[in-house]
Amino acid sequence: MNGPCQHYYRASLGGESAYSIDPSSVVFGRGSLRELGDHARSLGLRRVGVFTDPAVRRQPFFASAERALLRAGLELAVFDAVRIEPSDVSFVEAGRFAAEGRFDGYVSIGGGSVIDTTKVAALLATHPAELLSYINAPIGEGRPVPGPLPHHIACPTTSGTGSECTGIAICDLTSRKAKTGIASRRLRPSLAIVDPDVTKSLPSSVVASSGFDVLCHAIESFTARPYTARNASSPATTRPMSQGANPFSDMGSLEALRLSGAHLVRAVTDPSDDDAREAMLWAATLAGIAFGNSGVHVPHGMAYAVAGLVKDYRAPGYPDDHPMVPHGLSVVLSAPSVVRVLGKLLPERHHEVAKALGLSVDAADAGEALAEHLRSLMKACSLPSSLSEVGYGPSDVEALVEVTLLQRRLLENAPRPIDRDDLSALFSDALS
Ligand SMILES: [Fe+2]
Repeated sequence: MNGPCQHYYRASLGGESAYSIDPSSVVFGRGSLRELGDHARSLGLRRVGVFTDPAVRRQPFFASAERALLRAGLELAVFDAVRIEPSDVSFVEAGRFAAEGRFDGYVSIGGGSVIDTTKVAALLATHPAELLSYINAPIGEGRPVPGPLPHHIACPTTSGTGSECTGIAICDLTSRKAKTGIASRRLRPSLAIVDPDVTKSLPSSVVASSGFDVLCHAIESFTARPYTARNASSPATTRPMSQGANPFSDMGSLEALRLSGAHLVRAVTDPSDDDAREAMLWAATLAGIAFGNSGVHVPHGMAYAVAGLVKDYRAPGYPDDHPMVPHGLSVVLSAPSVVRVLGKLLPERHHEVAKALGLSVDAADAGEALAEHLRSLMKACSLPSSLSEVGYGPSDVEALVEVTLLQRRLLENAPRPIDRDDLSALFSDALS
């Protein structure tokens, strides 16, 4: 890579000297969901479990996806009880359906919640064990996924999580009031079919929240610690997916930032702007591939506490059967505070981010300018822009910090060590 970013990847004694690239298989384009049957057949599938949620199941595109599978001669059974923002309980319920269905492959049609649930259902049906044994340490045992999983074709219907390109699945751990998950290359879907036509019917609030998830994936992936700063993995095959920023993930992150900077507000405020919605879906795909190969860090770590400890906030456009801070919103609420602090540590990296978003600013001011820009984007998209607006106050900071400290995988991927005092200051700043 040319320019100042080159200096980011300095060799260090005992540090990594190589990075892994796990590409994702992606079919992208308007109407591509019609190809689902052909791809399932070419992967050798005969009997598939199709996972979705009740709202997506009612969409006409779901019926056409089902027809595409049937036309290709596949048997299928549909599980439409996926919980939005899944829990350990809903993961296990989906795993039971997968085990009883004796499927030789899986299809997910929905947002990140649906795709994550399908990953875990396939895992539990293929390699049965207590869910907690697979959950990331220190909350769970962090047991490696013992073998390959059946093929999984992921068809995202929101433009945010990038879950179709990652080996990560996130859930609420009901007993701990914490969000956590499972991370393994073996969870990565075999193929993503990304069809912009299916995002046409999304409510603006969902486009907004998932769009900020994209922005944060790209910012965090680009500002993660450099892969060279991590101790070399031994054996090399144990190199984690959260390996830190690297030249491959930088490419996807910067392009996702450029696209989001130009299209996020348009995609949210004008539902008829098909070009903007398509650009955001492509940005989500690129950012998903990028952070799937680098990892995210502090804003996502803080977000799992913000979402996990939710009180009574209910978000417009989302199911209102339980209080919920949608994932993208829970991430971006803390992001301005984080870039303000880390911008001082890494001015050049934050300068690159600011330029990709279309800001004209000096490197020394990039963190501060980015923080202000994120807040103004949140307001332009009619989203809350502080933690107090989703129900938190100063007396909640300690609990938010405690839950965030459990997110070891994410905090270790930050460009500098983040301790209790740092988190306390970040949450306090994000309140208002
Ligand atoms: Fe995310």
